[in-house]
Amino acid sequence: MSREVVFKVDDVCVDFEVGGKSFFSKKKSLRALNHISFELYKGETLAIVGESGCGKSTICRTAMRFHSPSSGNMYYEDLNIHQLDKQNLKRYRQKMQMIFQDPFSSLNPLHNIYYHLDRPLTLYHNHSAKEKQELMDKYLTMVGLVPPSEQGNKHPHELSGGQRQRAYIARVLAVGADVIFADEPTSMLDVSIRLGVLNLMNDLKNDLGKSFIYITHDIATARYISDRIIVLYAGHMVEWGDVDKVIINPQHPYTQLLVAAAPDPEREGEVDLPVVKNDEETEVNLWTPESKGCPFAKRCPKAVEACKVELPPPVEVDEGQFVRCTHAKSIK
Ligand SMILES: Nc1ncnc2c1ncn2[C@@H]1O[C@H](COP(=O)(O)OP(=O)(O)OP(=O)(O)O)[C@@H](O)[C@H]1O
Ligand code: SF4
Ligand SMILES: [Mg+2]
Repeated sequence: MSREVVFKVDDVCVDFEVGGKSFFSKKKSLRALNHISFELYKGETLAIVGESGCGKSTICRTAMRFHSPSSGNMYYEDLNIHQLDKQNLKRYRQKMQMIFQDPFSSLNPLHNIYYHLDRPLTLYHNHSAKEKQELMDKYLTMVGLVPPSEQGNKHPHELSGGQRQRAYIARVLAVGADVIFADEPTSMLDVSIRLGVLNLMNDLKNDLGKSFIYITHDIATARYISDRIIVLYAGHMVEWGDVDKVIINPQHPYTQLLVAAAPDPEREGEVDLPVVKNDEETEVNLWTPESKGCPFAKRCPKAVEACKVELPPPVEVDEGQFVRCTHAKSIK
């Protein structure tokens, strides 16, 4: 059965100009994303994990049109996101939405929650006042803000962090989004309420067929709510595929390191942890358009001479699990 692709990234590079602020420092091009390609299916959650600065948010921000790709394209269904006419721009804005890390800044403190839901219902849909009220109450109930008549009349400061994130998710539902980018949506919430928000995302996927890109540092929650996963390192996709396969049997030395560093009460025995060579040079993984080879080579305990010269092609190491590493063994 073929699955419906709702969002597609086709060979995207994003370069930023950095430096050049003083007479002595020259401008330099930083390659934040290097030839990224993947598809997001309807009704799935795709996690993107990797250390700080690896390019996770740049994927979201480029999809949200804050940046343009330096090369390559991104699509919502068959619409090229960076080449939209006025009519398609409105459709794209409705269908692709983002949930932010900081639930405190994503709602306007001057207005109550009903106002935040009423606006998109008015802008994107053609409902009567009675229908709008019914829908607002339905979305608030769906995200667990009950009773809706009480919660909808509250202002953001009267809600907890978790409740604000839920209110924002209700707003995303009111807009009518199909593809939702969640950039570390729970990292600013208390640990005790994180799970509730993740479960809500899971319900929206299962019950309404919403699709999520879930950006996180946390490999355990990535496994908990995602179907597939992409491991990014210095703007490169180094391993990707079925989330259980990648986390249970990681094949790229960097994924092995990430998995080994994550607490896992179910894991039996020790993970074969690659020793990371940490010298001053490896502290900064500045990748430029001219850089060559595997981006992990400076830190990798398994590196060989060839790794510094050429980026290995993707190899299917298990059905639906791909790795870019010289040592990866193809199943075919
Ligand atoms: N507007 C910009 N101008 C210049 N460089 C940028 C810009 N946005 C991002 N970068 C750089 O691009 C790289 C990727 O940044 P990005 O924010 O995507 O990382 P991230 O994986 O989301 O990190 P974190 O986990 O800390 O949020 C970093 O080196 C960052 O400094
Ligand atoms: S390609 Fe080479 S440097 Fe890169 S992860 Fe594999 S062994 Fe390490
Ligand atoms: Mg980020």
